[in-house]
Amino acid sequence: MHHYFDTLSRLALIVPMAMAGCSSSSSDSTPTDPSNHPGDDDDGNGDTTPPSDDDVPTTGLDFTHLWELADFPIGMAVSAGAESRSLLRAGERAEAERAVVNRHFSQLTPGNIMKMSYLHDNWGQYTFDHADALTDYALDNGMTVHGHALAWHSCYQIPEWVWDYQGTPETFLADLSTHVETIAAHFSGKVVSWDVVNEAFHDSGEYRGATEDCSVDGEDSMLNHHANGPTHIETAFVAARHGDPTADLYYNDFNLSPNGPKLAAVLEMVDDFQERNIPIDGIGFQMHIQMDWPSVSDIRASFAAVLERDLKVKITELDIPINNPFSGEPTHDTFSEAAAQAQKRRYCEVIEAYLDVVPEDKRGGVSIWGLVDGESWLIDQFFEGEQAWPLLFTDDLEPKPALIGVADALRGRPCF
Ligand code: XIL
Repeated sequence: MHHYFDTLSRLALIVPMAMAGCSSSSSDSTPTDPSNHPGDDDDGNGDTTPPSDDDVPTTGLDFTHLWELADFPIGMAVSAGAESRSLLRAGERAEAERAVVNRHFSQLTPGNIMKMSYLHDNWGQYTFDHADALTDYALDNGMTVHGHALAWHSCYQIPEWVWDYQGTPETFLADLSTHVETIAAHFSGKVVSWDVVNEAFHDSGEYRGATEDCSVDGEDSMLNHHANGPTHIETAFVAARHGDPTADLYYNDFNLSPNGPKLAAVLEMVDDFQERNIPIDGIGFQMHIQMDWPSVSDIRASFAAVLERDLKVKITELDIPINNPFSGEPTHDTFSEAAAQAQKRRYCEVIEAYLDVVPEDKRGGVSIWGLVDGESWLIDQFFEGEQAWPLLFTDDLEPKPALIGVADALRGRPCF
């Protein structure tokens, strides 16, 4: 049994920055065609009946579909497959969740089920059923799919074949290439973009080091160990392009929007890739950010730095908790109206920054990492109790002011 050591180490890494805060694309990822969206006419593309959205809570909203306000994908990370909160599970609650997702979002990211261990735990045995069901669901309901993630060091989710790897760096790179290419090819035409490599750098800008067994604290990478260095990153990008010549290929990481040494290192890698014709189409900004960190000006500057490389910018995993888990005792015991309004403004300012800085043809989209507050990954990983309230919907699936903040920015209204 492997553990999610990354979280612990991430906590250590984020603390200093969070404390500071206390103070050439080859693909078509055009926005979802509105004529092809749930609630509209049958797209002739699927066999599932879209859930009715008649009962979706709309309190306070003066728009019907969030996705319709954007000219780029508006995404949602979802559980699926064997996960207990699978979007596709039976029952009324799941049906209500599907109705909200279908109503407001135009893209799905599988939160877990396309990671290495889920699709390819034992060498040569690919288990695509769950991910196929989710992609089919998305496509049948007029949504696109962003794939996550072809290569990730996380000890919790690396496959047995990597865990037990016996071979040379050369054979490992060849095998990683087969892994990536096989999966990218399988979903070719169904997945519009991929997080090809996730979290390969430390916040300091160093590449993660190598670990044989993840025994340190999950900070280092078994991929680096077997590949004898970070070459596996470019191997993965080349293989992804072979597998799917049309999907947009992203490098994805957290703590890029502070515009610090980590982003600088990622962009140095990009410069090198571009010089040597290693394919890469964009940078995924996870943006697990705080209310008070990073500053909007740093966020803007970080997007601009990526655009200088002519790459796309995608916000891949946005969530903004009310309390900053790295700055001592929680300052909010309840989700007050004042907190809700502050969060609305913060969401608005992030999306406004995206729209202001990133030109239309470079917008890979914006995805939120989870539907309702009580089910955010942040709660298990960083909070004691549920004092995060980081998302756009309450546990009753009611829209929060934060949702209106996103909509305001998309409609060019001022953030307040
Ligand atoms: C998280 C999932 O949301 C959790 O369900 C799982 O237990 C751990 O992984 N950055 C990433 C995502 O790129 O894959 C992580 O997802 C959250 C942080």
